[in-house]
Amino acid sequence: MKPIFADDAAIEYAVKLLRQGRLVAFPTETVYGLGADASNPEAVRRIFKAKGRPVDHPLIVHIACVNSINDWALTVPEAALQLANRFWPGPLALILNKNPDVPLAVTGGQDTVGLRVPAHPVALRLLQAFGGGIAAPSANRFCRISPTQAAHVEEELGDTVDLILDGGACQVGVESTIVDLSGNQPRLLRPGHITRLEIEAVLQTELLVNSPQSDQTMSLELRAPGMMAVHYAPVTQAMLCPSDRLPEAIGELSLQIKKVGILALGGDAINRVSTENGLIRIIRMPEQVEGYAQALYASLRELDNLHLDMILVEQPPRTEAWRTINDRLCKAASFYQPLI
Ligand code: TXA
Ligand code: MG
Repeated sequence: MKPIFADDAAIEYAVKLLRQGRLVAFPTETVYGLGADASNPEAVRRIFKAKGRPVDHPLIVHIACVNSINDWALTVPEAALQLANRFWPGPLALILNKNPDVPLAVTGGQDTVGLRVPAHPVALRLLQAFGGGIAAPSANRFCRISPTQAAHVEEELGDTVDLILDGGACQVGVESTIVDLSGNQPRLLRPGHITRLEIEAVLQTELLVNSPQSDQTMSLELRAPGMMAVHYAPVTQAMLCPSDRLPEAIGELSLQIKKVGILALGGDAINRVSTENGLIRIIRMPEQVEGYAQALYASLRELDNLHLDMILVEQPPRTEAWRTINDRLCKAASFYQPLI
C-alpha cells in the first residue's frame, strides 16, 4: 500500500473505507494515526490486530470539534472545557469518564475515554467529512517508533492498512500531551508539546504528575496501560550518554562492536569524538527543543534502518523544557554504563 496525496477525492475514499469498518492511516500534527470508526467495535479490533497491540491498551478518539465531546464523555468537567477551548485543535488528549455508548473495545475495557481534536488540516477535513469519531493510535507496530511521515507508515503497516493518506511530515513530531480529568484532581499522564506549565496556567491549579522513577530518567511511572517503560523503541539497542562521556563511550564501543551510530545534540561535544572505524553515521539534531522533537523519530528510524549494533544518543539537558524529549528517549534507550 503506497501512501496517496490527501486531496478531496482521497478524503472521500477514506470516509467510504471508514464507514465500511476499514483502516485508514492519516497525518496529525503530532504523529501519523491508524484510524478506524470509533463506534464500530469490529473496526476497532482491526487496529489492535494490525499493530499487534494488547486489547487492554485504550485508544484516543479523534473528534472534529469541542462540541463533539458530549458524544463521548459522560460528563464534561469545567476543566475539560477550559483546556479544550484553549488548546484544541492541538496536541492535547483529555481523559474523561466515558458515555455508556462508547465501545469498550476503544477504551480497553476502562470506563474512561481519551479525546482529542487534532490540528492537522488533513485530519480535520477527514473528521469533518466522516462526521463521527475516529479511534487512532500512532500508526506503528506495538512498542516501535511512531511514524512522522507517510513513508514510515508504509514501512510499518503497509501490508495491513487499507489506505495511507499522505499529508507531509508531522510538525510536532512527538505524541500529544495527555491529561486525565476523570478523577478528583487533574493528572499529567504523558508529557508532550503542550507543557505542564501551560496547562497549569489555564487550570490555575497544579497537575498531579506520576512520580518520576528517578531524577536521572525523568521518566514517568505511568498509569495509562499503553505507557510502559519500553515504548517508542528502535530495534537496534540504544543507549543514552552524557555529552562529556561521548568520546570515552565511542572509544570503548569501537573496541567491542562493529557499527555505531550517534544521535548528537546541536552543541560541540560531538566534535571531540574521534572518528573510529565503527562509527558509521552521526546525525546532528537541531539545537532547539521544537526542532529536535520534530526530527527525533525520523532520525531514530534512519539509524535503525542502518542495521547498526548500537545507537548512542547524546543526552539532552535534564530541564523542564526537555521533559518530553527525555521521556521518549528514556523509553527508547537505556543508560550508558562504562564497560571498565
Ligand atoms: O498524538 C497522539 O496522541 C497520537 C495521534 C495519532 O493522535 N496518538 C497516540 O495514540 O499517541 P497511542 O495509542 O499511540 O497513545 C495513546 C495513549 C496510550 O498510551 C493509551 O494508553 C493512552 O493514550 N490512553 C488512551 N485512552 C486512555 C484512557 N481512557 N485512559 C488512560 N490512558 C489512555
Ligand atoms: Mg503509540
